[in-house]
Amino acid sequence: MPTLETTVNGVTFPNPFVIASGPPGTNARVICRSFADGWGGASAKTLSLDASKIINVAPRYGRLKGSDGQPYGWENIELISTMPFDQWLDEFKKIKDQHPDRVLIASVMEEFNKDRWFEMIERCEAAGVDMFECNFSCPHGLPERKMGSAMGVNPDILHEVCTWVRSATKLPVWAKMTPNVTSIEDVSRACLSAGIDGISAINTIRSVIGVDLDTLRPMPTVEGYSTPGGYSCKAIKPISLRMNMEIATLIRDEFPGRSLSGIGGIETGEDAAEFILLGADTVQVCTGVMLHGYKLVQKMSDQLLAFMQRHGFETIDDFKGKSLPYITTHTDLVERQAKAKARKAAAREKAGLLRDEHWDGDEFVKQSDELVG
Ligand SMILES: Cc1cc2nc3c(=O)[nH]c(=O)nc-3n(C[C@H](O)[C@H](O)[C@H](O)COP(=O)(O)O)c2cc1C
Repeated sequence: MPTLETTVNGVTFPNPFVIASGPPGTNARVICRSFADGWGGASAKTLSLDASKIINVAPRYGRLKGSDGQPYGWENIELISTMPFDQWLDEFKKIKDQHPDRVLIASVMEEFNKDRWFEMIERCEAAGVDMFECNFSCPHGLPERKMGSAMGVNPDILHEVCTWVRSATKLPVWAKMTPNVTSIEDVSRACLSAGIDGISAINTIRSVIGVDLDTLRPMPTVEGYSTPGGYSCKAIKPISLRMNMEIATLIRDEFPGRSLSGIGGIETGEDAAEFILLGADTVQVCTGVMLHGYKLVQKMSDQLLAFMQRHGFETIDDFKGKSLPYITTHTDLVERQAKAKARKAAAREKAGLLRDEHWDGDEFVKQSDELVG
């Protein structure tokens, strides 16, 4: 029987399914519920030292639905956690008391200020979290305060902040990347070269979900106005899978041993298998949980185990990155196809014995037989 248990950066996850930072990880009550339903880990809703600066609006979500009525695209203009920092520390203690075997990740964000990052990291660590995820990726609201993706698009700032975080804690640290960059490798390299343990990718893609054709106002509409938000759900999976592959290749080539947590449009065990085949160690789910509830993890686990059984894989490591060597350049595809065509033409010519030098001593009777009309 295959196992879903996996060890990443020295931390053992009962399974690779992690709640992604967002509404499904907003407090101890919901995180404990997710653990009771089977999630291996949870990245809590991103916190900062001063929650009084975080003011949400409503509505703050927008959806695109397919002809079956099911959402496939989701936009949000939600900010990070509104829960006071001290309250988060109590919630972390409660969660670890109740679920010591599950992996609790503190998702953290702060301004470009070393002392603030140190204070945040040290106090979360004292509250008992297992690891950190630095949110360098929220695409709306926070960048106006030079936080989130305002840092995530700047390799120099990323390197410096990751250096601070690295020296502030011995616990594993992941950097959560924004996809709203030209090169996901450049920003990931900036973080990894500062010594952190892994990358989580991706956060949401900057978007405008639509325009209301009656009111002519962009959506989601707040007092008649809107602002670009972050796009998630199934529709972003091909983009997140591509970025996952690029980061996994970077890790393989330049930072062996570091880890990758794949995020973006994951809703099934088969989606998870694809991310792991392209190099992820764990996978995270946010919108999928908002649509299908916490029990989704049970279906995903069954589907992933069935995939592993079908291929004879015993552990996640048995197939991690297995599809990565088959990504190449377009020029290489052209060369491979030309060679394959030439091989097939030669085989056809040989099968038709078009030239006398194709007759073979061992195959002589078979070849004669094949030429009978
Ligand atoms: C409503 C909402 C709120 C989110 N809040 C956060 C957050 O506080 N911190 C964070 O790192 N990511 C946040 N995210 C991003 C998700 O963690 C995830 O990276 C993204 O939604 C893509 O994954 P998905 O398609 O599974 O949702 C949020 C996403 C949504 C939909």
